[in-house]
Amino acid sequence: MMGYLGQLIVCYLKGDEKRMEDYIKVAEPCVGEEEISAVVQVLRSGYYVQGPKVREFEEKFASYIGTTYAVATNSGTAALHVALAAAGIGPGDEVIVPALTFFATVESVIHNNAIPIFADIDPETYCLDPEDMERTISERTTAVIPVHLYGHPAEMDQIMEIAEEHKLLVIEDAAQAHGAEYKGRKVGSIGHIGCWSFYATKNMTTGEGGMITTDDPDIAKRAMLIRNHGMTSRDEHSILGYNYRMNEIAAAIGIVQLSRLDKLNEVRTKNSLYLLEGLKDVEWLEIARIKPYVKHAFFWCPVKVNEEALGMTTRELVIELKRRGVEVRHRYVTPLYKQPVLINKNAYPRNCPFNCPFYNMRVDYSNLNCPNAEAIAGKIIGLPNHPKLSRKELDMVISTLKSIK
Ligand SMILES: Cc1ncc(COP(=O)(O)O)c(C=O)c1O
Repeated sequence: MMGYLGQLIVCYLKGDEKRMEDYIKVAEPCVGEEEISAVVQVLRSGYYVQGPKVREFEEKFASYIGTTYAVATNSGTAALHVALAAAGIGPGDEVIVPALTFFATVESVIHNNAIPIFADIDPETYCLDPEDMERTISERTTAVIPVHLYGHPAEMDQIMEIAEEHKLLVIEDAAQAHGAEYKGRKVGSIGHIGCWSFYATKNMTTGEGGMITTDDPDIAKRAMLIRNHGMTSRDEHSILGYNYRMNEIAAAIGIVQLSRLDKLNEVRTKNSLYLLEGLKDVEWLEIARIKPYVKHAFFWCPVKVNEEALGMTTRELVIELKRRGVEVRHRYVTPLYKQPVLINKNAYPRNCPFNCPFYNMRVDYSNLNCPNAEAIAGKIIGLPNHPKLSRKELDMVISTLKSIK
């Protein structure tokens, strides 16, 4: 980890005008003495990989989410990869994903040799639009991955109803929504499988880490095998797996972070609502609608920029805000089907899985158009809302945004 002096030097070398202490950072992990002593305890124990701490973390996480099982992995991407594999998604299958999310959601489909099919997003919540999801279902569709984007739950009732009708597996990508609820139920417990990330900037972190939650004993059992080389005993590999194990240090941090999650989320929510209230009259900002029956986890505090009203692009705004000492997030800037890896079908050699013999359809993402995703991509910024921010800093975020025009 780069020290404070190192960061100052990098800032200086980059010619940044602001010193580090003047910067309002968009995200900061909230770890303290409890996490530090939990790590020290593991280091002293001499037991480092997938042992008692991982088991304890899995049990506590499953109980918090409200599922029977939780299976820890070493990243959210690994959790998605394993979840699809454990559910038997593979060659010839189509999996519906939203057009705007982090690319890991799509990667997990392709790594399992299945074909991602993009559905549009809801213009109000930025999550998967159930009607467009239904439109994209074919006889090859086997699963759908709704993403609770920025911490706002996707429209799960409609998604589950459509999925049930078409016999689709629902894998919730809850990587951005720890603690979020939909109609009183925790996300990650509503679909057949939930996948989680504990990356450094998330509502709770283990540095890097992931989790799969499910009530299905077969999926849980297969997920446990796949994350650990498919090993049924020391000398037997019964199915194809990976090394996606979580280590004990990460799990020890995760146990403490989980115990603090609700409190941290409370502050995150308070900060976000304070920002949104303070900015509600800014005519070039559009505030996303929060559905009345959800508990938003506010991984991000997202606002949409009306570039015409502002008279500058969102990219220019992000640079200007940074110059004035406020760092914001700016993602996702294009609908995912425009990524070169998909346009060029540049996945596995010989164009696999796009010309897979089990999939006799022609895949071409170049003419795809999801109008809501096209209109929203690149226009969302996430404001600093992490729990370490003071009221003074939140006020500075508001006044800086208001001073832009
Ligand atoms: C929506 C979404 N899915 C999946 C992931 C992948 O998680 P990880 O970074 O832990 O691999 C992320 C991480 O940022 C994410 O935001």
